[in-house]
Amino acid sequence: MSSIWSVKSIASLQAESRGEGLGDAHALRRSLSLMSLVSLGVGCIIGAGIFVLTGHAAAAYAGPAISLSFVLAGIVCALAGLCYAEMASIVPVAGSAYTYAYATLGEFVAWIIGWDLLLEYAFGATTVAIGWSGYVTSFLRDFGVELPAAYASAPLAFDAATQEWSRTGTLVNAPAVAIVVALTALLAVGVSESAKANNVFVVVKLAIILVFILAGFSSVSSTNWIAEANPDGAFIPPAAGPGQYGWSGVVRGAAVVFFAYIGFDAVSTAAQEAKNPQRDMPYGILGSLALCTVLYVLVSVVLTGVVPFDQLGVPDPIALGVDALGLGWLATLVKLGAILGLTSVVLVLMLGQTRILYAMARDGLLPQAAAYVQPRLRTPLYTTLATGALVAVLAGFLPIGLVGELVSIGTLFAFAIVCAGVLYLRATQPDLERPFRAPLVAVTAPLGATSAFYLMSGLPLDTWIRFVVWLAVGLGVYFFYGRARSRVGRAETKG
Ligand code: ALA
Repeated sequence: MSSIWSVKSIASLQAESRGEGLGDAHALRRSLSLMSLVSLGVGCIIGAGIFVLTGHAAAAYAGPAISLSFVLAGIVCALAGLCYAEMASIVPVAGSAYTYAYATLGEFVAWIIGWDLLLEYAFGATTVAIGWSGYVTSFLRDFGVELPAAYASAPLAFDAATQEWSRTGTLVNAPAVAIVVALTALLAVGVSESAKANNVFVVVKLAIILVFILAGFSSVSSTNWIAEANPDGAFIPPAAGPGQYGWSGVVRGAAVVFFAYIGFDAVSTAAQEAKNPQRDMPYGILGSLALCTVLYVLVSVVLTGVVPFDQLGVPDPIALGVDALGLGWLATLVKLGAILGLTSVVLVLMLGQTRILYAMARDGLLPQAAAYVQPRLRTPLYTTLATGALVAVLAGFLPIGLVGELVSIGTLFAFAIVCAGVLYLRATQPDLERPFRAPLVAVTAPLGATSAFYLMSGLPLDTWIRFVVWLAVGLGVYFFYGRARSRVGRAETKG
Protein backbone atom coordinates (compact mmCIF):
# COMPACT_ATOMS: atom_id res chain seq x y z
CA MET A 1 0.00 0.00 0.00
CA SER A 2 1.18 3.52 -0.74
CA SER A 3 2.29 6.05 1.83
CA ILE A 4 -0.22 8.22 3.64
CA TRP A 5 2.08 11.11 2.73
CA SER A 6 1.60 10.61 -1.05
CA VAL A 7 1.40 13.94 -2.81
CA LYS A 8 -0.70 14.68 -5.88
CA SER A 9 1.55 16.22 -8.50
CA ILE A 10 0.91 19.81 -9.50
CA ALA A 11 1.05 18.70 -13.15
CA SER A 12 -1.80 16.21 -12.63
CA LEU A 13 -3.86 18.84 -10.80
CA GLN A 14 -3.32 21.32 -13.60
CA ALA A 15 -4.42 18.67 -16.11
CA GLU A 16 -7.54 18.10 -14.00
CA SER A 17 -8.19 21.80 -14.00
CA ARG A 18 -8.22 21.68 -17.81
CA GLY A 19 -10.75 18.84 -17.54
CA GLU A 20 -8.36 16.20 -18.87
CA GLY A 21 -8.83 12.60 -17.86
CA LEU A 22 -12.15 13.09 -16.12
CA GLY A 23 -14.52 12.37 -18.98
CA ASP A 24 -17.76 14.26 -19.49
CA ALA A 25 -19.44 12.49 -16.60
CA HIS A 26 -17.16 14.29 -14.17
CA ALA A 27 -16.77 17.71 -15.78
CA LEU A 28 -18.28 20.78 -14.18
CA ARG A 29 -19.35 23.72 -16.35
CA ARG A 30 -17.03 26.72 -16.68
CA SER A 31 -19.46 29.58 -16.49
CA LEU A 32 -18.26 31.95 -13.75
CA SER A 33 -16.78 35.35 -14.69
CA LEU A 34 -14.58 37.45 -12.39
CA MET A 35 -17.64 39.47 -11.35
CA SER A 36 -19.49 36.27 -10.45
CA LEU A 37 -16.50 35.10 -8.42
CA VAL A 38 -16.28 38.36 -6.44
CA SER A 39 -20.03 38.18 -6.00
CA LEU A 40 -19.76 34.59 -4.73
CA GLY A 41 -17.17 35.79 -2.22
CA VAL A 42 -19.27 38.73 -1.04
CA GLY A 43 -22.34 36.48 -1.09
CA CYS A 44 -20.65 34.13 1.32
CA ILE A 45 -18.92 36.71 3.51
CA ILE A 46 -21.54 39.30 4.49
CA GLY A 47 -24.07 37.58 6.72
CA ALA A 48 -24.67 36.62 10.32
CA GLY A 49 -21.29 38.02 11.35
CA ILE A 50 -22.07 41.64 10.61
CA PHE A 51 -25.87 41.50 10.91
CA VAL A 52 -25.94 39.58 14.22
CA LEU A 53 -22.60 39.12 16.02
CA THR A 54 -21.20 42.68 15.81
CA GLY A 55 -23.49 44.04 18.50
CA HIS A 56 -22.76 41.31 21.03
CA ALA A 57 -18.99 41.55 20.38
CA ALA A 58 -19.06 45.33 20.94
CA ALA A 59 -21.24 45.19 24.04
CA ALA A 60 -19.46 42.29 25.74
CA TYR A 61 -15.82 42.45 24.61
CA ALA A 62 -14.46 45.39 22.64
CA GLY A 63 -16.72 48.38 23.18
CA PRO A 64 -16.41 51.06 20.49
CA ALA A 65 -13.05 49.49 19.60
CA ILE A 66 -14.97 46.71 17.83
CA SER A 67 -13.85 48.47 14.65
CA LEU A 68 -10.26 47.62 15.70
CA SER A 69 -11.35 44.00 16.19
CA PHE A 70 -12.62 44.05 12.62
CA VAL A 71 -9.29 45.46 11.43
CA LEU A 72 -7.40 42.77 13.36
CA ALA A 73 -9.54 39.89 12.07
CA GLY A 74 -9.28 41.44 8.59
CA ILE A 75 -5.47 41.33 8.79
CA VAL A 76 -5.49 37.63 9.77
CA CYS A 77 -7.80 36.93 6.84
CA ALA A 78 -5.73 39.05 4.43
CA LEU A 79 -2.60 37.04 5.28
CA ALA A 80 -4.45 33.78 4.68
CA GLY A 81 -6.21 35.29 1.66
CA LEU A 82 -2.89 36.06 -0.03
CA CYS A 83 -1.81 32.45 0.48
CA TYR A 84 -5.14 31.14 -0.81
CA ALA A 85 -4.77 33.40 -3.85
CA GLU A 86 -1.32 32.03 -4.64
CA MET A 87 -2.47 28.42 -4.27
CA ALA A 88 -5.60 29.02 -6.31
CA SER A 89 -3.54 30.51 -9.14
CA ILE A 90 -1.24 27.48 -9.22
CA VAL A 91 -3.86 24.76 -8.89
CA PRO A 92 -7.24 26.13 -9.92
CA VAL A 93 -9.08 22.91 -9.12
CA ALA A 94 -12.30 22.43 -7.14
CA GLY A 95 -11.68 21.61 -3.50
CA SER A 96 -9.91 24.62 -2.01
CA ALA A 97 -7.64 23.94 0.96
CA TYR A 98 -8.20 20.20 0.60
CA THR A 99 -6.70 20.20 -2.89
CA TYR A 100 -3.84 22.52 -1.91
CA ALA A 101 -2.93 20.23 0.97
CA TYR A 102 -2.96 17.22 -1.38
CA ALA A 103 -0.47 19.00 -3.61
CA THR A 104 1.87 19.95 -0.81
CA LEU A 105 1.60 18.15 2.48
CA GLY A 106 0.25 14.81 1.24
CA GLU A 107 -2.89 12.71 1.26
CA PHE A 108 -3.18 12.31 5.01
CA VAL A 109 -3.13 16.05 5.72
CA ALA A 110 -5.41 16.61 2.73
CA TRP A 111 -7.97 14.20 4.15
CA ILE A 112 -7.80 15.85 7.55
CA ILE A 113 -8.37 19.24 5.94
CA GLY A 114 -11.21 17.95 3.75
CA TRP A 115 -12.85 16.51 6.84
CA ASP A 116 -12.14 19.72 8.77
CA LEU A 117 -13.73 21.79 6.00
CA LEU A 118 -17.03 20.06 6.71
CA LEU A 119 -16.96 22.13 9.88
CA GLU A 120 -16.52 25.34 7.94
CA TYR A 121 -18.98 24.69 5.15
CA ALA A 122 -21.70 22.28 6.31
CA PHE A 123 -21.70 23.55 9.91
CA GLY A 124 -21.30 27.14 8.66
CA ALA A 125 -24.38 26.73 6.45
CA THR A 126 -26.18 25.22 9.45
CA THR A 127 -25.29 28.14 11.73
CA VAL A 128 -26.38 30.75 9.22
CA ALA A 129 -29.59 28.86 8.34
CA ILE A 130 -30.51 28.94 12.05
CA GLY A 131 -29.74 32.70 12.11
CA TRP A 132 -31.88 33.07 8.98
CA SER A 133 -34.78 31.43 10.74
CA GLY A 134 -34.46 33.89 13.66
CA TYR A 135 -34.52 36.91 11.34
CA VAL A 136 -37.49 35.58 9.33
CA THR A 137 -39.48 34.88 12.48
CA SER A 138 -38.83 38.41 13.74
CA PHE A 139 -39.55 39.95 10.30
CA LEU A 140 -42.90 38.15 10.07
CA ARG A 141 -43.74 39.19 13.61
CA ASP A 142 -43.31 42.85 12.57
CA PHE A 143 -46.21 42.21 10.19
CA GLY A 144 -48.32 40.47 12.80
CA VAL A 145 -47.60 36.96 11.50
CA GLU A 146 -46.72 34.59 14.31
CA LEU A 147 -45.22 31.23 13.32
CA PRO A 148 -46.48 28.31 15.45
CA ALA A 149 -43.95 28.10 18.31
CA ALA A 150 -43.55 24.33 17.97
CA TYR A 151 -42.10 24.78 14.49
CA ALA A 152 -40.10 27.99 14.88
CA SER A 153 -37.00 26.94 16.84
CA ALA A 154 -34.72 24.02 17.66
CA PRO A 155 -36.05 21.25 19.91
CA LEU A 156 -32.63 20.83 21.54
CA ALA A 157 -30.79 23.36 23.70
CA PHE A 158 -27.25 23.20 25.00
CA ASP A 159 -25.99 24.99 28.09
CA ALA A 160 -22.34 25.89 27.56
CA ALA A 161 -21.78 26.53 31.28
CA THR A 162 -22.98 23.13 32.48
CA GLN A 163 -22.36 21.29 29.18
CA GLU A 164 -25.83 19.81 29.41
CA TRP A 165 -28.43 19.16 26.75
CA SER A 166 -32.11 19.81 27.34
CA ARG A 167 -35.36 19.77 25.36
CA THR A 168 -37.06 23.05 24.58
CA GLY A 169 -40.51 21.57 23.99
CA THR A 170 -40.59 22.56 20.31
CA LEU A 171 -40.54 20.03 17.44
CA VAL A 172 -38.33 21.40 14.70
CA ASN A 173 -36.86 24.64 13.35
CA ALA A 174 -39.02 24.54 10.24
CA PRO A 175 -37.92 27.85 8.60
CA ALA A 176 -34.27 26.71 8.79
CA VAL A 177 -35.14 23.39 7.17
CA ALA A 178 -37.23 25.13 4.50
CA ILE A 179 -34.47 27.51 3.39
CA VAL A 180 -31.95 24.68 3.19
CA VAL A 181 -34.30 22.53 1.10
CA ALA A 182 -35.05 25.43 -1.27
CA LEU A 183 -31.38 26.29 -1.75
CA THR A 184 -30.47 22.64 -2.26
CA ALA A 185 -32.96 22.55 -5.14
CA LEU A 186 -31.40 25.69 -6.63
CA LEU A 187 -27.88 24.26 -6.34
CA ALA A 188 -28.98 21.04 -7.98
CA VAL A 189 -30.39 22.94 -10.95
CA GLY A 190 -27.11 24.56 -11.92
CA VAL A 191 -24.15 26.64 -10.90
CA SER A 192 -24.95 29.54 -13.21
CA GLU A 193 -28.55 29.68 -11.93
CA SER A 194 -27.19 29.65 -8.37
CA ALA A 195 -24.68 32.38 -9.25
CA LYS A 196 -27.44 34.54 -10.79
CA ALA A 197 -29.62 34.22 -7.69
CA ASN A 198 -26.59 34.99 -5.56
CA ASN A 199 -25.91 38.18 -7.57
CA VAL A 200 -29.39 39.47 -6.76
CA PHE A 201 -28.98 38.74 -3.04
CA VAL A 202 -25.58 40.42 -3.02
CA VAL A 203 -26.83 43.61 -4.68
CA VAL A 204 -29.63 43.92 -2.12
CA LYS A 205 -27.42 43.37 0.92
CA LEU A 206 -24.71 45.71 -0.35
CA ALA A 207 -27.35 48.38 -0.96
CA ILE A 208 -28.68 48.05 2.60
CA ILE A 209 -25.21 48.25 4.10
CA LEU A 210 -24.27 51.28 2.00
CA VAL A 211 -27.51 53.07 2.90
CA PHE A 212 -26.77 52.45 6.58
CA ILE A 213 -23.21 53.78 6.28
CA LEU A 214 -24.23 56.85 4.28
CA ALA A 215 -27.26 57.67 6.42
CA GLY A 216 -25.32 57.10 9.61
CA PHE A 217 -22.10 58.93 8.86
CA SER A 218 -23.48 62.41 9.38
CA SER A 219 -25.13 61.38 12.65
CA VAL A 220 -22.25 59.72 14.45
CA SER A 221 -21.43 61.29 17.75
CA SER A 222 -17.87 60.97 18.95
CA THR A 223 -19.18 60.98 22.52
CA ASN A 224 -20.46 57.45 21.87
CA TRP A 225 -16.96 56.37 20.90
CA ILE A 226 -15.12 57.87 23.79
CA ALA A 227 -17.29 59.15 26.56
CA GLU A 228 -20.96 58.45 27.02
CA ALA A 229 -20.92 54.78 27.96
CA ASN A 230 -17.34 54.92 28.99
CA PRO A 231 -16.44 57.17 31.89
CA ASP A 232 -12.71 56.99 31.25
CA GLY A 233 -13.14 58.64 27.88
CA ALA A 234 -10.95 56.09 26.11
CA PHE A 235 -11.77 54.53 22.74
CA ILE A 236 -10.84 51.13 24.16
CA PRO A 237 -12.75 50.86 27.46
CA PRO A 238 -10.60 49.89 30.46
CA ALA A 239 -10.22 46.14 30.98
CA ALA A 240 -12.81 44.60 33.29
CA GLY A 241 -11.41 41.05 33.21
CA PRO A 242 -9.65 38.77 30.72
CA GLY A 243 -11.25 39.25 27.30
CA GLN A 244 -13.57 41.90 28.66
CA TYR A 245 -12.63 45.29 27.20
CA GLY A 246 -9.04 46.52 27.16
CA TRP A 247 -6.73 45.03 24.52
CA SER A 248 -7.65 41.47 25.41
CA GLY A 249 -11.25 42.41 24.72
CA VAL A 250 -10.29 43.73 21.30
CA VAL A 251 -8.60 40.39 20.55
CA ARG A 252 -11.55 38.35 21.80
CA GLY A 253 -13.81 40.60 19.75
CA ALA A 254 -11.64 39.77 16.73
CA ALA A 255 -12.03 36.03 17.39
CA VAL A 256 -15.81 36.47 17.50
CA VAL A 257 -16.18 38.71 14.45
CA PHE A 258 -13.75 36.48 12.53
CA PHE A 259 -16.93 34.57 11.68
CA ALA A 260 -18.00 37.60 9.64
CA TYR A 261 -15.06 37.11 7.26
CA ILE A 262 -15.54 33.41 6.65
CA GLY A 263 -16.39 32.84 3.04
CA PHE A 264 -13.74 34.60 0.95
CA ASP A 265 -12.03 31.24 0.70
CA ALA A 266 -15.24 29.74 -0.68
CA VAL A 267 -14.34 31.42 -3.98
CA SER A 268 -11.54 28.90 -4.31
CA THR A 269 -13.94 25.95 -4.13
CA ALA A 270 -15.48 27.04 -7.43
CA ALA A 271 -12.14 27.14 -9.28
CA GLN A 272 -13.19 24.48 -11.72
CA GLU A 273 -16.22 26.44 -12.77
CA ALA A 274 -14.36 29.72 -13.36
CA LYS A 275 -13.97 30.82 -16.98
CA ASN A 276 -10.40 32.00 -16.48
CA PRO A 277 -9.31 30.49 -13.18
CA GLN A 278 -5.62 31.31 -13.09
CA ARG A 279 -6.19 35.00 -13.66
CA ASP A 280 -9.52 35.43 -11.85
CA MET A 281 -9.15 33.28 -8.72
CA PRO A 282 -6.71 35.58 -6.89
CA TYR A 283 -8.76 38.68 -7.76
CA GLY A 284 -11.98 36.94 -6.76
CA ILE A 285 -10.59 35.95 -3.36
CA LEU A 286 -8.76 39.16 -2.54
CA GLY A 287 -11.31 41.50 -4.15
CA SER A 288 -14.23 40.16 -2.13
CA LEU A 289 -12.18 40.17 1.06
CA ALA A 290 -10.97 43.76 0.57
CA LEU A 291 -14.46 45.05 -0.20
CA CYS A 292 -15.98 43.40 2.85
CA THR A 293 -13.18 44.53 5.17
CA VAL A 294 -13.76 48.18 4.22
CA LEU A 295 -17.53 47.82 4.64
CA TYR A 296 -17.20 46.05 8.01
CA VAL A 297 -14.93 48.71 9.46
CA LEU A 298 -17.24 51.47 8.24
CA VAL A 299 -20.37 49.74 9.57
CA SER A 300 -18.81 49.20 12.98
CA VAL A 301 -17.54 52.79 13.15
CA VAL A 302 -21.00 54.11 12.31
CA LEU A 303 -22.87 51.66 14.53
CA THR A 304 -20.83 52.44 17.64
CA GLY A 305 -21.05 56.12 16.74
CA VAL A 306 -24.85 56.18 16.74
CA VAL A 307 -25.63 53.74 19.57
CA PRO A 308 -23.74 53.63 22.92
CA PHE A 309 -21.88 50.31 22.80
CA ASP A 310 -23.37 48.94 26.03
CA GLN A 311 -26.79 48.92 24.35
CA LEU A 312 -25.70 46.91 21.33
CA GLY A 313 -26.04 43.38 22.70
CA VAL A 314 -29.19 42.61 20.67
CA PRO A 315 -29.79 40.02 17.92
CA ASP A 316 -30.36 42.70 15.26
CA PRO A 317 -27.84 45.49 15.99
CA ILE A 318 -27.98 47.12 12.54
CA ALA A 319 -31.76 47.47 12.78
CA LEU A 320 -31.20 49.07 16.21
CA GLY A 321 -28.70 51.48 14.61
CA VAL A 322 -31.24 52.45 11.97
CA ASP A 323 -33.84 53.07 14.68
CA ALA A 324 -31.36 55.29 16.51
CA LEU A 325 -30.97 57.32 13.32
CA GLY A 326 -34.70 58.00 13.43
CA LEU A 327 -35.19 55.93 10.28
CA GLY A 328 -37.55 53.36 11.76
CA TRP A 329 -39.04 52.60 8.33
CA LEU A 330 -35.61 51.47 7.18
CA ALA A 331 -35.43 48.86 9.94
CA THR A 332 -37.83 46.61 8.02
CA LEU A 333 -35.69 46.95 4.90
CA VAL A 334 -32.58 46.18 6.94
CA LYS A 335 -34.18 42.97 8.16
CA LEU A 336 -35.14 42.07 4.61
CA GLY A 337 -31.58 42.79 3.47
CA ALA A 338 -30.24 40.64 6.29
CA ILE A 339 -32.56 37.79 5.33
CA LEU A 340 -31.43 37.90 1.69
CA GLY A 341 -27.85 38.34 2.84
CA LEU A 342 -28.00 35.27 5.02
CA THR A 343 -29.69 33.36 2.19
CA SER A 344 -26.69 33.87 -0.07
CA VAL A 345 -24.26 32.82 2.68
CA VAL A 346 -26.10 29.51 3.12
CA LEU A 347 -26.21 29.09 -0.66
CA VAL A 348 -22.50 29.63 -1.24
CA LEU A 349 -21.39 27.62 1.80
CA MET A 350 -23.43 24.65 0.57
CA LEU A 351 -22.05 25.16 -2.93
CA GLY A 352 -18.51 25.07 -1.49
CA GLN A 353 -19.27 21.96 0.52
CA THR A 354 -20.51 20.04 -2.51
CA ARG A 355 -17.41 20.96 -4.52
CA ILE A 356 -15.07 19.82 -1.75
CA LEU A 357 -16.87 16.48 -1.37
CA TYR A 358 -16.82 16.14 -5.16
CA ALA A 359 -13.04 16.65 -5.18
CA MET A 360 -12.54 14.14 -2.37
CA ALA A 361 -14.67 11.51 -4.13
CA ARG A 362 -12.90 12.11 -7.44
CA ASP A 363 -9.67 11.27 -5.63
CA GLY A 364 -11.21 8.01 -4.38
CA LEU A 365 -11.34 9.06 -0.72
CA LEU A 366 -15.16 9.09 -0.66
CA PRO A 367 -17.65 6.84 -2.51
CA GLN A 368 -17.68 7.40 -6.28
CA ALA A 369 -21.34 8.42 -6.28
CA ALA A 370 -20.23 11.70 -4.72
CA ALA A 371 -18.22 12.53 -7.85
CA TYR A 372 -21.15 11.85 -10.18
CA VAL A 373 -22.03 14.91 -12.24
CA GLN A 374 -25.56 14.91 -13.67
CA PRO A 375 -24.95 15.20 -17.45
CA ARG A 376 -27.70 17.71 -18.25
CA LEU A 377 -27.43 19.94 -15.16
CA ARG A 378 -23.65 19.52 -14.86
CA THR A 379 -23.87 19.60 -11.09
CA PRO A 380 -22.68 16.95 -8.61
CA LEU A 381 -26.24 15.83 -7.95
CA TYR A 382 -25.95 13.16 -5.25
CA THR A 383 -23.43 15.22 -3.31
CA THR A 384 -25.71 18.24 -3.49
CA LEU A 385 -28.69 16.25 -2.22
CA ALA A 386 -26.66 14.61 0.56
CA THR A 387 -25.22 17.96 1.67
CA GLY A 388 -28.72 19.48 1.67
CA ALA A 389 -30.09 16.60 3.75
CA LEU A 390 -27.28 16.84 6.30
CA VAL A 391 -27.52 20.61 6.69
CA ALA A 392 -31.33 20.48 6.87
CA VAL A 393 -31.25 17.94 9.71
CA LEU A 394 -28.56 19.82 11.65
CA ALA A 395 -30.30 23.18 11.17
CA GLY A 396 -33.68 21.73 12.10
CA PHE A 397 -32.59 20.38 15.46
CA LEU A 398 -29.44 22.02 16.82
CA PRO A 399 -29.08 25.30 18.73
CA ILE A 400 -27.01 28.06 17.09
CA GLY A 401 -24.42 28.52 19.86
CA LEU A 402 -23.16 24.98 19.62
CA VAL A 403 -22.21 25.07 15.96
CA GLY A 404 -20.89 28.64 15.50
CA GLU A 405 -17.55 28.27 17.28
CA LEU A 406 -16.85 24.93 15.63
CA VAL A 407 -17.11 26.75 12.31
CA SER A 408 -14.48 29.30 13.33
CA ILE A 409 -12.01 26.75 14.70
CA GLY A 410 -12.34 24.56 11.60
CA THR A 411 -11.82 27.50 9.25
CA LEU A 412 -8.80 28.84 11.13
CA PHE A 413 -7.18 25.41 11.05
CA ALA A 414 -7.60 25.29 7.26
CA PHE A 415 -6.09 28.80 6.98
CA ALA A 416 -3.00 27.70 8.92
CA ILE A 417 -2.50 24.66 6.69
CA VAL A 418 -2.85 26.68 3.48
CA CYS A 419 -0.27 29.21 4.73
CA ALA A 420 2.10 26.36 5.61
CA GLY A 421 1.48 24.76 2.22
CA VAL A 422 2.39 27.92 0.30
CA LEU A 423 5.67 28.22 2.14
CA TYR A 424 6.45 24.55 1.65
CA LEU A 425 5.79 24.73 -2.07
CA ARG A 426 7.96 27.85 -2.46
CA ALA A 427 10.80 25.91 -0.85
CA THR A 428 10.32 22.59 -2.63
CA GLN A 429 9.21 23.78 -6.07
CA PRO A 430 10.60 27.30 -6.47
CA ASP A 431 10.35 27.26 -10.27
CA LEU A 432 6.67 26.45 -10.48
CA GLU A 433 4.66 28.93 -12.55
CA ARG A 434 2.84 31.19 -10.10
CA PRO A 435 0.43 33.57 -11.86
CA PHE A 436 -0.11 35.20 -8.46
CA ARG A 437 2.62 35.40 -5.82
CA ALA A 438 1.87 36.30 -2.21
CA PRO A 439 4.10 39.30 -1.44
CA LEU A 440 6.83 38.89 1.19
CA VAL A 441 5.93 35.24 1.56
CA ALA A 442 8.59 34.59 4.20
CA VAL A 443 6.64 36.92 6.46
CA THR A 444 3.09 36.61 5.12
CA ALA A 445 2.78 32.82 5.35
CA PRO A 446 4.26 32.20 8.83
CA LEU A 447 2.42 35.21 10.22
CA GLY A 448 -0.82 33.98 8.60
CA ALA A 449 -0.42 30.55 10.19
CA THR A 450 0.57 31.87 13.62
CA SER A 451 -2.18 34.47 13.74
CA ALA A 452 -4.75 31.79 12.80
CA PHE A 453 -3.52 29.62 15.68
CA TYR A 454 -3.57 32.66 17.94
CA LEU A 455 -7.25 33.29 17.22
CA MET A 456 -7.93 29.55 17.69
CA SER A 457 -6.27 29.70 21.09
CA GLY A 458 -8.89 32.24 22.21
CA LEU A 459 -11.76 29.78 21.63
CA PRO A 460 -13.24 27.89 24.59
CA LEU A 461 -11.90 24.50 25.69
CA ASP A 462 -15.11 22.62 24.89
CA THR A 463 -14.90 23.85 21.28
CA TRP A 464 -11.35 22.46 21.15
CA ILE A 465 -12.52 19.13 22.54
CA ARG A 466 -15.29 18.84 19.95
CA PHE A 467 -12.81 19.79 17.23
CA VAL A 468 -10.34 17.09 18.27
CA VAL A 469 -13.10 14.47 18.53
CA TRP A 470 -14.30 15.45 15.05
CA LEU A 471 -10.80 15.03 13.61
CA ALA A 472 -10.42 11.67 15.38
CA VAL A 473 -13.63 10.42 13.75
CA GLY A 474 -12.21 11.63 10.43
CA LEU A 475 -9.05 9.61 11.00
CA GLY A 476 -11.17 6.51 11.53
CA VAL A 477 -13.01 7.06 8.25
CA TYR A 478 -9.72 7.56 6.41
CA PHE A 479 -8.04 4.43 7.71
CA PHE A 480 -11.14 2.25 7.30
CA TYR A 481 -12.29 3.58 3.97
CA GLY A 482 -10.33 6.18 2.00
CA ARG A 483 -6.78 4.99 2.32
CA ALA A 484 -7.26 1.72 0.45
CA ARG A 485 -9.34 3.34 -2.27
CA SER A 486 -7.26 6.45 -2.94
CA ARG A 487 -6.59 6.95 -6.67
CA VAL A 488 -3.15 8.37 -6.02
CA GLY A 489 -2.40 5.49 -3.66
CA ARG A 490 -3.54 2.84 -6.15
CA ALA A 491 -1.58 4.45 -8.98
CA GLU A 492 1.55 4.38 -6.80
CA THR A 493 0.99 0.76 -5.79
CA LYS A 494 0.61 -0.26 -9.45
CA GLY A 495 3.61 1.82 -10.47
N1 ALA B 1 -19.18 35.25 6.96
C1 ALA B 1 -20.43 34.59 7.01
C2 ALA B 1 -21.40 35.28 7.90
O1 ALA B 1 -21.09 36.28 8.49
C3 ALA B 1 -20.28 33.15 7.36
O2 ALA B 1 -22.51 34.88 7.99
